[in-house]
Amino acid sequence: MARFSVIGTGNMGSAIAGLLERGGAEVTRVSRDETGSAPLGDVVVLAVPYPALAEIVKAYGSQLDGKVVVDITNPLNFETFDSLVVSADGSAAAEVAQAVPGARVLKAFNTNFAATLAGGTVGDAPTTVLVAGDDADAKQTLIDAITAGGESAVDAGSLSRARELEAIGFLQLTLAASEKIGWTAGFNLFR
Ligand SMILES: NC(=O)c1ccc[n+]([C@@H]2O[C@H](COP(=O)([O-])OP(=O)(O)OC[C@H]3O[C@@H](n4cnc5c(N)ncnc54)[C@H](OP(=O)(O)O)[C@@H]3O)[C@@H](O)[C@H]2O)c1
Repeated sequence: MARFSVIGTGNMGSAIAGLLERGGAEVTRVSRDETGSAPLGDVVVLAVPYPALAEIVKAYGSQLDGKVVVDITNPLNFETFDSLVVSADGSAAAEVAQAVPGARVLKAFNTNFAATLAGGTVGDAPTTVLVAGDDADAKQTLIDAITAGGESAVDAGSLSRARELEAIGFLQLTLAASEKIGWTAGFNLFR
């Protein structure tokens, strides 16, 4: 089974690491102090704020070649809460892919609030993680690990879909911030 490293030990890092561990995966949790020096597993989840991505990618450089790198960020303008800070035809995930061309980049988890990953449900249904990326094997590795942890995961298409996933994450955040929904709620997929 693939070995996972989760960089970031906050709300999302803890929830994602817990989910993967429930599925029996070997997970290393990497704190801020260890970032850049901790050895990395086959799959690296960047559970950090969008502005930290560039620094982390730079710190690891070519060590990310061959890895599956998972971007979970919602790149919002948190001053206005009214726009994304990436270009209209781009995404944070596309920026990561451009910065580490030797890695297989996935977008995942950004449409799930941390509580729904930790608790495993949205309402009465299993939490569904949408996974986008250009490498089918990389996507399947992550989907299998999430499924093993008891949640649902769906291949949402190529990495180009990251733009749409970031739009969904943005909208969901604005709904929660304006108290239209709770932080334990959110969009889900029913099949
Ligand atoms: N919270 C959610 O429900 C949710 C949902 C979907 C997506 N997201 C996305 O998930 C990401 C993480 O959110 P979060 O809620 O988990 O935030 P958080 O609780 O604030 O945790 C952020 C983590 O990133 C670490 N970090 C910050 N800058 C770093 C750097 N330069 N190098 C290494 N580590 C660094 C922090 O370390 P320190 O503790 O030392 O500061 C902390 O462990 C964000 O991009 C957010 O948009 C969040």
